[in-house]
Amino acid sequence: MKAISCLEPGRLAMIDAPEPAASEDDVVVDVKRIGICGTDLHAYRGNQPFFAYPRILGHELSGIVRSAGARVEGLRPGDQVAVMPYLHCGECIACRRGKTNCCTRMQVLGVHVDGGMRERIAVSASHLIRTNGLTLDQSAVLEPLGIGAHAVRRSGLQAGDTVLVVGAGPIGLGVMAMAKRRGAAVIAMDINEERLSFCRSWARADACVNALREPEQALLELTNGEMPTVVFDATGSARSMEGAFRYPAHGGTLVFVGLVKSSIAFDDPEFHKRELTLMGSRNATKEDFDAVTEAIAAGDIDVSSFITHRASFDDMIPQFETWLKPESKTIKAMVEL
Ligand SMILES: NC(=O)c1ccc[n+]([C@@H]2O[C@H](COP(=O)([O-])OP(=O)(O)OC[C@H]3O[C@@H](n4cnc5c(N)ncnc54)[C@H](O)[C@@H]3O)[C@@H](O)[C@H]2O)c1
Ligand SMILES: [Zn+2]
Ligand SMILES: [Zn+2]
Repeated sequence: MKAISCLEPGRLAMIDAPEPAASEDDVVVDVKRIGICGTDLHAYRGNQPFFAYPRILGHELSGIVRSAGARVEGLRPGDQVAVMPYLHCGECIACRRGKTNCCTRMQVLGVHVDGGMRERIAVSASHLIRTNGLTLDQSAVLEPLGIGAHAVRRSGLQAGDTVLVVGAGPIGLGVMAMAKRRGAAVIAMDINEERLSFCRSWARADACVNALREPEQALLELTNGEMPTVVFDATGSARSMEGAFRYPAHGGTLVFVGLVKSSIAFDDPEFHKRELTLMGSRNATKEDFDAVTEAIAAGDIDVSSFITHRASFDDMIPQFETWLKPESKTIKAMVEL
């Protein structure tokens, strides 16, 4: 079976991999779509500190059931599935409290263990969602958009809230789309004007603010001096995350969806006078995948224009480099098998 392995930083190679070993609880899936995201690019560049090589990347997956183990119920050969790539332990303090998305022993497919850049993969039936009503492309973006759905659900935002989403990459776009669906007015902020204009058209953002041009003043003007009640930061920039403490309204919430490998410092008076609620948001759960499925089915999320670049599995390796470059203007690249 063909697989693409990241042998070491900067080197992807087509290899001959063994067929997946499946238990009675597993389903063997013919992989059909692999979405490419920042995590794959970081792994490829070698700036994921705890990443072990060689590794088969790929965690944004959809495919068709090839065979199901003896103990699997509800999935049959021919069913279309999306993969929930967060393999949780089921026993730790987080799992026992239903927060499987932040399991203490989390193993993510394509990150901690081999992922989906291969013709077939064995996945526990508990981590598959039947998506017969969606397209393969739509099924493969449930994962990245589910990150935004999780952050929005966690924030507790209400219809009528004015929310700010800083960072208009694929993750921030998912936050915007799901916040709009919940009835919020959305202000998008980025430093990239092209991405901001995509926010207007794709996520129907109500307003856009360039973070390089007196953003605080712009937010005051857009909110009658009150500031947004919920602020999401999806930049992966420590500077932006530190600055974001100034943006929420008094009594508001700041959600860090993006992450950095460094400390974040903040000014306590700014935090305290607002009685700010600060949250991290990690991964997603089945509820979040279901919320995205419903949003797509309702026509609230246009997956076809979210996918900006495509390649076949055999042609992926040379394309991968170009997707890394900002001038390629990639939002989501999709690999097809
Ligand atoms: N919560 C999770 O479980 C989870 C899952 C996947 C990814 N992430 C994280 O989410 C973040 C975003 O991912 P992505 O794939 O959308 O990344 P991306 O790099 O495509 O998008 C980030 C955006 O932030 C903008 N930006 C950068 N610095 C800024 C600043 N100072 N002010 C305003 N905008 C700024 C960039 O122009 C870009 O448009 C990353 O940190 C990623 O690691 C989190
Ligand atoms: Zn991803
Ligand atoms: Zn656990």
